[in-house]
Amino acid sequence: MAKVITFANQKGGVGKTTTAHIVAIGLAKKGLKVLACDLDPQANLTSVLGIDPDGDLVSINELFTGKCDIRDAIVRTEAGVDLLVGSLMLSGADRKFSATGDEYKFKEALKEVENDYDYVVVDTPPALGVMSLNALAATDYLVVVMTPDYFSTKGLKQFQETVDVTKKYLNNPMIKINGLLLTRCDRTNLSSMINDDINDAAKELGTKIFKSRIRQGVAIRESQYLESSLFDIKNTGVLEDYNSFIKELLKEVKK
Ligand SMILES: Nc1ncnc2c1ncn2[C@@H]1O[C@H](COP(=O)(O)OP(=O)(O)OP(=O)(O)O)[C@@H](O)[C@H]1O
Ligand SMILES: [Mg+2]
Repeated sequence: MAKVITFANQKGGVGKTTTAHIVAIGLAKKGLKVLACDLDPQANLTSVLGIDPDGDLVSINELFTGKCDIRDAIVRTEAGVDLLVGSLMLSGADRKFSATGDEYKFKEALKEVENDYDYVVVDTPPALGVMSLNALAATDYLVVVMTPDYFSTKGLKQFQETVDVTKKYLNNPMIKINGLLLTRCDRTNLSSMINDDINDAAKELGTKIFKSRIRQGVAIRESQYLESSLFDIKNTGVLEDYNSFIKELLKEVKK
């Protein structure tokens, strides 16, 4: 049965999609069967995997509106991972999917394919609305992706409240923040003061900070611009960081 790993944070631009993308490909490169799921109305994960979210493909929008099965909305990408295609039409999701039980659409759909994959990697929007709740309801392992700055630590409490809601009301009693992944680190932003602040925040949340930290690196933008994978641009520091994170993550998820 597939393990569902979710990358989340209601704060925007912290590296959720970048991480989901690289981790999905990294796991597939290890011979594991991976389904990447794009739950963000911006559909960035879909685009970066070389699929046009504006095209004719059946997507998560049709899945959520009951017009198709999950398998109809999954495509094989050149990167070797399957993708539950994202949709720009999800931008009104909070309005469209506001009925009781709408938070379970994703979890219910995943049941049909959970034996086809080793890992399901989920990218979420920078919001705490219905799409994030759908992701959290289905999650086995939750990583909060964050940049090392003052405002990032401030938003963590609010995120924790949403996790608590999921635990209590969305039938996922085991969910917790399994770890904080620091991305876009450089010498200027990882000062000892911010380090202390993040350590305190992790302690308060009862979670840990992954030992692997992802540095700021120009190769990320280059690879995304080329819609290629960071794995094609060899010998970059950021790739080393992500490889070490993937190792750490696998050890943890297998526990
Ligand atoms: N380690 C890194 N080094 C340099 N640039 C990075 C790094 N990680 C992410 N970026 C860049 O930062 C921007 C935001 O990254 P990304 O889209 O992954 O964040 P996000 O959290 O998914 O954003 P959103 O909340 O809007 O979905 C992108 O332009 C990406 O190329
Ligand atoms: Mg994103």
